[in-house]
Amino acid sequence: MVKLSPSVLTADFLTLKDMLKKFENSGVDMLHLDVMDGIFVPNISFGVPVIKSVKAHTSIPIDVHLMIDRPHRYIKEFAEVADWLGFHYEAGSDVAQTLKEIRKLGCKSCLTIKPKTTAEEIFEFLPLCDMVLVMSVEPGFGGQKFMPESLDKVRKIKAEAKRQGIELEIQIDGGINAETAPLAVEAGVTVLVAGSYVFSAEDVEKTVREIKAL
Ligand code: DX5
Ligand code: ZN
Repeated sequence: MVKLSPSVLTADFLTLKDMLKKFENSGVDMLHLDVMDGIFVPNISFGVPVIKSVKAHTSIPIDVHLMIDRPHRYIKEFAEVADWLGFHYEAGSDVAQTLKEIRKLGCKSCLTIKPKTTAEEIFEFLPLCDMVLVMSVEPGFGGQKFMPESLDKVRKIKAEAKRQGIELEIQIDGGINAETAPLAVEAGVTVLVAGSYVFSAEDVEKTVREIKAL
């Protein structure tokens, strides 16, 4: 079964607690939390204290997507509240060292690439990754349109991981809905991130079950 990591970026934070119960009931696998600094991406979201209070109210593993400049500066703080911790290849940190540090701190490591970054650029880092996140929109905002070019990158990363004999999750983030999710799964995605599609659903539990059954 494909895993689902709903992104709370477009959620109403004051009603998030009820939503977390629905997510638990419907078998959500991870909770995707988008951290933006207004520098690496042109938007600001939230940081460690907000994630900490979300974590205190749920047993769902926390999947943190850092969209911040030079993320190595904050890995220690975020590792305390994350189960999966990911950062951008393009963000100006030593990639191998940051991935190693994440694992050393007891988190699962995730390397994330923007739409313009090629799959080949990160092949050398795959042995240090528990997950690779392929962005299917320019990072920074929810509710954007899915970029189909991202599927080819998923296929390439999947093939290269197999070639290197590495097992890792491949996550996709941006514009995932009933039409695009099956394409992503077919290409080899094992973890779907979905923000606006899940949070605008009339029946959230039904929508989660439908996606997971793909
Ligand atoms: C965008 C974020 C996404 C966003 C996805 O930079 O990384 O996680 O919340 O939102 P949708 O699913 O609406 O594209
Ligand atoms: Zn994200």
